[in-house]
Amino acid sequence: MRQYQLSHRKDFSGLTLHDDIPKPKLSTATEVMVKIRAVSLNARDLQIATDQYPAPHAIKDNLVPVSDAAGEIVEVGEEVEGWKVGDRVCTVCFLGHDQDEDVQMHSMVRGLGGAIDGVATEYFTVDQTQLVRMPSHMTFEQASTLPIAAATAQNSLYGHHPVLQAGDTVLCMGTGGVSLFAAQIALNAGAKVIITSSSSAKLTRVTSLLQPLLRSTSSPDTIQTINYNEHPDWDVKVAELTGGKKVDFVIEIGGRATLGKSIRSTRAGGLVAISGYMSDYGKPDEKANQEDLAKMLLYGAVNARGNFVGNKVQFEKMNRALETGGVIPLVDKIFEFEQLKEAYEYLQSGKQIGKVVVKVSSD
Ligand SMILES: NC(=O)c1ccc[n+]([C@@H]2O[C@H](COP(=O)([O-])OP(=O)(O)OC[C@H]3O[C@@H](n4cnc5c(N)ncnc54)[C@H](OP(=O)(O)O)[C@@H]3O)[C@@H](O)[C@H]2O)c1
Repeated sequence: MRQYQLSHRKDFSGLTLHDDIPKPKLSTATEVMVKIRAVSLNARDLQIATDQYPAPHAIKDNLVPVSDAAGEIVEVGEEVEGWKVGDRVCTVCFLGHDQDEDVQMHSMVRGLGGAIDGVATEYFTVDQTQLVRMPSHMTFEQASTLPIAAATAQNSLYGHHPVLQAGDTVLCMGTGGVSLFAAQIALNAGAKVIITSSSSAKLTRVTSLLQPLLRSTSSPDTIQTINYNEHPDWDVKVAELTGGKKVDFVIEIGGRATLGKSIRSTRAGGLVAISGYMSDYGKPDEKANQEDLAKMLLYGAVNARGNFVGNKVQFEKMNRALETGGVIPLVDKIFEFEQLKEAYEYLQSGKQIGKVVVKVSSD
């Protein structure tokens, strides 16, 4: 069968496609075999392939990369219950999180495509407990985007107090995977969103892609946007757009350079859900680095919470809501399996809106 392995981690040229890898066998009676149909990429995959992943564990040699996939069960072990051949499933990034507990740094030792082999392969075996049923209305390409990006968005909005309520406003930072899933989950739940981006063209496109989640009677301010290059003090703009009330949630993926503005954009009792650190890849922002974040949180009475993906229980709850609302993930581009390297380069370019997907097999 065909499988990618990382022969080195200096750059994406380490992504090597092998076509003579033996098909795996079930190693326990409770395992299932999944024929992988599509995988999606995350910032994590780029970091792992270029040795920049802040993991408290070694990256396996000749690692099979990528954590997020959707596929079809083609074989079940003798003691498997609840799954059958033909079931359509998604992988879970950090194995072992079938309980309702937070994924944490130590969970990374069970991370697909990091500490252990991932899913850029035609067949994959895993214990029956480490899969989630795909939302029935999605294609494999769409469902492959859920395990990290959507689960992180779900955890940001529903993981702990405060949880999202209809009528809330969610600030979604940037037009990448996590933020746009947060926007879709929020709109599906009757909340409003403010989306930021470096690009006005992306904001126009995103606003149009999100229209199916609006009702004909939705208020005109249900989706608002801010170009953060045109408005470097975008927290001031957030206050203006919300009539001084500020937002209930911020999907914080910028890190150091944006956290202060995120706190200032949030109402008392609201939540800054911290997931990412995209600004680490840009020029250091000395002014932001010197901000007194503790006092900002204190005086603003704002909550801040780090969240690491989401657990399997959250993933399943989210899938039910996405299915009920008929929410379709925003897939920017689908690459062929032979083009995995190009898909990595495309994600790194930052040109995408939403998710970048790679088709693995179609028959
Ligand atoms: N904690 C977790 O479990 C978890 C899970 C997933 C991802 N993450 C992290 O979250 C971050 C985003 O991940 P993703 O998968 O959504 O990435 P992505 O799909 O590559 O999207 C990243 C987007 O962030 C925006 N951006 C870049 N630099 C920015 C800045 N300085 N300020 C504001 N926005 C900026 C850009 O949007 P525009 O082009 O529109 O400006 C970009 O498209 C990454 O740091 C990733 O490592 C963490």
